[in-house]
Amino acid sequence: RAEVTAKSLALSEVMTKAGEYYKQQLRTAPQAIAYLKKRGLTGEIAARFGLGFSPDAWDGLRSVFTDYNIPALVEAGLVIDKSEEEGGGRKRYDRFRDRVMFPIRNTKGQVIGFGGRIMEQGEPKYLNSPETPLFQKGLELYGLFEARQAIREAGYVLVTEGYMDVVALAQMGFPQAVATLGTACTPTHVQKLLRQTDHVIFSFDGDSAGRRAARRALDACLPHANDDKVIKFLFLPKEHDPDSYIREFGTDAFEQEVRDAMPLSQFFMREMIGDNDLNTAEGRARTQFDAKPLLQAMQSSGMRLQLVRNLAQVTQTSPSEIEIMFELSQPV
Ligand code: CTP
Ligand code: MN
Ligand code: MN
Ligand code: MN
Ligand code: MN
Repeated sequence: RAEVTAKSLALSEVMTKAGEYYKQQLRTAPQAIAYLKKRGLTGEIAARFGLGFSPDAWDGLRSVFTDYNIPALVEAGLVIDKSEEEGGGRKRYDRFRDRVMFPIRNTKGQVIGFGGRIMEQGEPKYLNSPETPLFQKGLELYGLFEARQAIREAGYVLVTEGYMDVVALAQMGFPQAVATLGTACTPTHVQKLLRQTDHVIFSFDGDSAGRRAARRALDACLPHANDDKVIKFLFLPKEHDPDSYIREFGTDAFEQEVRDAMPLSQFFMREMIGDNDLNTAEGRARTQFDAKPLLQAMQSSGMRLQLVRNLAQVTQTSPSEIEIMFELSQPV
């Protein structure tokens, strides 16, 4: 029976139970099934990612959690508890209503959070679980549990921004994709990724937010950019994200984009030069100024030396002048 009574339920059990409920609800929600089909997804891929649907009801979860008042439901962020002062009306209600549900799993496969997408126009487009003791956004990568084997087989991971990018890429033959869930790529993300593979390809949206995300990822990667790691950046046309791109241009075109992805060293130089005019002393000095903290954050490595040499070349200095000026400890 689907009833749950225990106050003692751990947060993860509550989340798992809710995930099962949302999955179940999807089966009898033709509008949600139609939405996923319209976005090009098969039932098989929806099942693989455990996609679900939260009905358009204030207390849909009551049918699984007969004790709808247990604190764990609030702590898990599944239910919102209105404080007394706000007065009248309903005290508790489901956070997720009338949304397509994307369960977020940890690397053990336990559901730790949800993202819920609205099917029509409306705000917010995605509603996410709040941070809980189980779920910290800056630490988790959506899809990592599902992608792990594929990452090993492909020899690289694709890092995207969104739920739909991960699911659509998997549908189209790239199951080695994960997402940062709209937050900046953190050093913890980078460490997690590099534990899975030595080859990371960032593939953010082509818009200006995606470009900023790539820059943040560069900053987060440099301290880890050891010589046995390959880090690349795939830049899409500005009106596209990986999902829309692969749908419009197909798998082969995306495969070509993966092959053409920009190596970290090239992106680094492009970012450091920026708008600086290298024909002027000011522009060259500014380029060095911008590069200084990033190079200082790197460990002494062959890669750092290569970046120093490239920087020296475009700024008309020598590598050793830069190393002295930036107080980079000498490689031993
Ligand atoms: N995001 C969010 N809340 C929002 C908007 C975005 O949490 N209101 C997060 C989601 O994880 C989303 C990601 O940021 O997947 C990227 O945002 P965006 O590019 O706007 O959405 P898409 O993933 O492209 O979503 P879709 O294709 O469904 O429109
Ligand atoms: Mn490899
Ligand atoms: Mn975007
Ligand atoms: Mn999209
Ligand atoms: Mn997007």
